[in-house]
Amino acid sequence: MSIKLNDKYLSSFVNDHAYSMIQPQVTLADSMLRSKSGPGNTFLGWIDLPVNYDKEEFARIKTCAEKIKKTCDVLVVIGIGGSYLGSRAVIEFLKSPMYNSLKKDTPDIYFAGNCISTDSLNEILAVCEGKDICVNVISKSGTTTEPAIAFRVFRALLEEKYGKEGARERIFVTTDKARGTLKEFSTAAGYETFVVPDDVGGRFSVLSAVGLLPIACAGIDIDELMAGAASAMEKYKDPNLENNDCYRYAALRNILNRMGKSVEVLASYEPFTAMLSEWWKQLFGESEGKDQKGIFPSSVIFSTDLHSLGQFIQDGTRTMFETVINVENTGSSFKIPEDHANIDGLNFLSGMDLNDVKKTAMNGTILAHVDGGVPNIVINVSDRNAYSLGELIYFFELACAVSGYLLAVNPFNQPGVESYKKNMFALLGKPGYEDLRVELEERLKN
Ligand code: PA5
Repeated sequence: MSIKLNDKYLSSFVNDHAYSMIQPQVTLADSMLRSKSGPGNTFLGWIDLPVNYDKEEFARIKTCAEKIKKTCDVLVVIGIGGSYLGSRAVIEFLKSPMYNSLKKDTPDIYFAGNCISTDSLNEILAVCEGKDICVNVISKSGTTTEPAIAFRVFRALLEEKYGKEGARERIFVTTDKARGTLKEFSTAAGYETFVVPDDVGGRFSVLSAVGLLPIACAGIDIDELMAGAASAMEKYKDPNLENNDCYRYAALRNILNRMGKSVEVLASYEPFTAMLSEWWKQLFGESEGKDQKGIFPSSVIFSTDLHSLGQFIQDGTRTMFETVINVENTGSSFKIPEDHANIDGLNFLSGMDLNDVKKTAMNGTILAHVDGGVPNIVINVSDRNAYSLGELIYFFELACAVSGYLLAVNPFNQPGVESYKKNMFALLGKPGYEDLRVELEERLKN
């Protein structure tokens, strides 16, 4: 069993009857999800994606990844939000946050089109100079501004470097199977395309071609990732909270939220989980933060952030609870050396594995934070491998869906994301937004 929830540190915060009281709501949420009768029910394709995926496309992803590995030094992955966070999270978790600096037989991977920063774009262009480049542009709608700008830039670069024919062999597009500007453009240009399934929203799409192609290009075993997710799919079918850690996590978040805990801090002691936290923040933030409700998802990497946010967590406003991701076996070890002079006074640690120091720091911190009034949930992840990560990804996706239903929101839409886009388009002078432009400019003047 790769993923195990430990809720023993909640005993001073959550009464046993809280679980039995919320059980009927969990059972209802589960049944709405499984019978596809709840809000957002046209976006439930992720539920059985670990087994019910396009096998022909999956094989094509592997072939394409081999081709990309052979033909380029750099893969530029263009996408934003759900179209990039998942693959980046998996690559950093399983390889390294310093993946590009590792000695490897796979291409460097840079992520572009996920912001509107001139410096960021110029920096990626600079590191691509003199290198052989492939591009995977990912956009379900095919119209998102940030990746569209980046794609325009990299397409021109590739066409200049390799000619139109050569660029065609190096541009890979992941988008809707039939609709959208990007799809139409790709068909006309003859690019190889992969599909974002209709019934899978961006933030639930890491186990589709959206995440899998870049992940496979990094040399990660995507069969194992899917196998881990498939095992979670089986494991979390029983709605009984006694038998289902995933639903227990979803229920606990809501029990704590109803007690006034409106901020969840995802804590980990491993920097390789930092991007996973970013993926998790989007998953929960975009799914639950609506109708003036939701738990604000935030994250920390300890012990680094114990020296910046530790004070606040221990002693500041009491609105938060912590969920600790504990990766038990990372696959590496490091013995702290002996120093005869012992000038730093650290010889009491000599010969100890750094992993054990970390575990001790984690245990001590959990107890201190619990004493400070911060409920702590621990999610134990047995190994830093593709199987466990697949299981964890599915654990969070399913927990998010159930948690959203417990909160009585539609976890599968994101109406709030449109507001900034509307204003941005109006202010940039996009045709069709003329009246709004006048109104906004007036407001900005005053
Ligand atoms: O989860 C989501 O739906 C969003 O984060 C989208 O993935 C993001 O806005 C990018 O959209 P698209 O893939 O259409 O470019």
